[in-house]
Amino acid sequence: MPASSLIPAGLVDALRDARHVCVLTGAGISAESGVPTFRDAQTGLWEQYDPQDLATPDAFVRDPALIWRWYRWRRELVLRAEPNAGHLALARLESRLQRLTLVTQNVDGLHQRAGSRQVIEFHGNIFADRCFVEGCTVTVESDADVPTCPGCGGHVRPGVVWFGETIPDTALNAAFGAAAECDLFLSIGTSSLVYPAAGLAEIARDAAAIVAEINPQPTDLARSADFAIAAKAGAALPELVDSLPD
Ligand code: OAD
Repeated sequence: MPASSLIPAGLVDALRDARHVCVLTGAGISAESGVPTFRDAQTGLWEQYDPQDLATPDAFVRDPALIWRWYRWRRELVLRAEPNAGHLALARLESRLQRLTLVTQNVDGLHQRAGSRQVIEFHGNIFADRCFVEGCTVTVESDADVPTCPGCGGHVRPGVVWFGETIPDTALNAAFGAAAECDLFLSIGTSSLVYPAAGLAEIARDAAAIVAEINPQPTDLARSADFAIAAKAGAALPELVDSLPD
């Protein structure tokens, strides 16, 4: 087994022995692809805005054109971004384990572009469009400032979960089920502040899973986790995957 400077031997053992690994990722894993995290200051055009004030239904009702401008800017940024070593390592990990459930709070699709096959998009996808009135998925063909629903004529919104909104049942049940059933839970690049996603580690721990965090700035979860690796995902994850015996 190759020596690893970042990964403790106990975690290598837990990964090797796990029947089901549940991984939760947050904005931190995409930071190394150039996608800003939620709690980082924004730059350029949007530096005067706090994402937490834009990603809400109230903000959309107040000024839908502003919210669309922000999301179009974010879509372009994500389209220019490439999956990084962390995303690629998780895709490799999926193909080497008996069972891996990947839950992401990210809406950027970078896990899928890196090759991960089973991804639970807990907060939706930035490239999806939904009717704000009816909630249904729609296909928008116009480039109007605020597109309208071909069915009811109401405003169309990005297909992501905003602050204060509930997680779609399918994603919620699949993620909660995996957390309760896994024997190793990895929390990667998330501040562990936003519920219900932040509760997944607690569910796993209560079900006696081993819990590990990978985050250069250890969060509150690090105190109760079995392992806290204070490193970037792009450095730690390739080492973690390479630590598995061939
Ligand atoms: P945050 O922006 O809250 O936190 C990003 C975390 O990533 C921080 O703890 C950083 O220390 C860590 N980080 C930064 N660079 C990293 C790297 N290279 N490798 C590993 N970790 C790194 O993002 P989330 O926790 O994803 O929800 O935020 C959760 C949710 O809150 C988001 O999905 C979004 C947000 O508001 C909604 O929009 C509903």
